[in-house]
Amino acid sequence: MLDIKIEKTKTPKEIPSADNPLKFGTIFTDHMFVMKYETGKGWHDPKVVPYEPISLEPSAMVFHYGQEMFEGLKAYKTEDGRTLLFRPNKNIERANKTNRRICIPEIPEEDFLQAIKAVVKVDEAWIPTKPGTSLYIRPFVIATDPFLGVRPSDTYLFMVILSPVGAYYPEGLNPVKIWIEDEYVRAVKGGIGEAKTGGNYVASLRSQVKAHDEGYSQVLWLDGVERKYIEEVGAMNIFFKIAGTVITPALNGSILPGVTRDSVITLCKEWGIPTEERRISIDEIFEASQNGTLEEVFGTGTAAVISPVGTLRWEQHIMQVQDGGIGLISQKLYDTITGIQLGKLKDNHNWTVTV
Ligand code: COI
Repeated sequence: MLDIKIEKTKTPKEIPSADNPLKFGTIFTDHMFVMKYETGKGWHDPKVVPYEPISLEPSAMVFHYGQEMFEGLKAYKTEDGRTLLFRPNKNIERANKTNRRICIPEIPEEDFLQAIKAVVKVDEAWIPTKPGTSLYIRPFVIATDPFLGVRPSDTYLFMVILSPVGAYYPEGLNPVKIWIEDEYVRAVKGGIGEAKTGGNYVASLRSQVKAHDEGYSQVLWLDGVERKYIEEVGAMNIFFKIAGTVITPALNGSILPGVTRDSVITLCKEWGIPTEERRISIDEIFEASQNGTLEEVFGTGTAAVISPVGTLRWEQHIMQVQDGGIGLISQKLYDTITGIQLGKLKDNHNWTVTV
């Protein structure tokens, strides 16, 4: 159990009004959680302090070699005033998996959850309540040793910041256009693709710019070896419904194990929909699109929730899905997951945790 000091701001900011569109990731609350680590001393000095810039040496290792872990989860306000987190333990488990992969010391799971709850509690009034909004929680760890050699740092900062958000994509629940990348790759097996760390996201920027220039909002990655099998979108995992079966790429070491991905698989199976986690090639998708069996495509993620895909571009081929509309399963998944998150639907799986 952490002994968290709480220092409240003396200059609270104005909480955005209900008509603020809450553009994703642009507004930050009044407070943040901070805890330090030092080899020999462990994690120490946990506190909630006013949100403000931090000071680091220009030589801090995170700036040079990217030793950092981040997570993303959300808090919701129920109609009866409770604050709920959605499956925080899955994020915490994954955070420590990332930490192990990139040699950051693990954070005890109960301390991690306590840290999240503490800062969310202090800034509870910032949780927006308009449909489609929530409080995005961004825990992260950075390496802070002032050192230019390559080795794991001996000192770290663990922080949790909060941001009231609307939809991740400007399209909202309207279908997005996706560019299937055939030039660059995101990750390979044995690399860091399944870890939630900045390196995977910077690897995606070149392609994202290229896709944006062509009018596509996201990039879908193929495997880094054969450039043949579907992996993920970077900000989302991906699902296809082909001839009645829901299919998503199996976790293979280079795909992020998404929390929403796991929830979607659980729900689809429960609803009696044939659901498969397996290798799926771009040829199979193209063939399904040609013969009319590609019924739905959607992305899943904490930030994106469920994001229907209306167009896929692969090499010279443009595949239209659902005539650009929202598929039945995509809509049902969105309604069910957000219904559970907001405490409106029965939470049969104990996915929500009260703050
Ligand atoms: C999330 O969905 O929480 C993510 O971390 C994706 C991020 C690129 C916004």
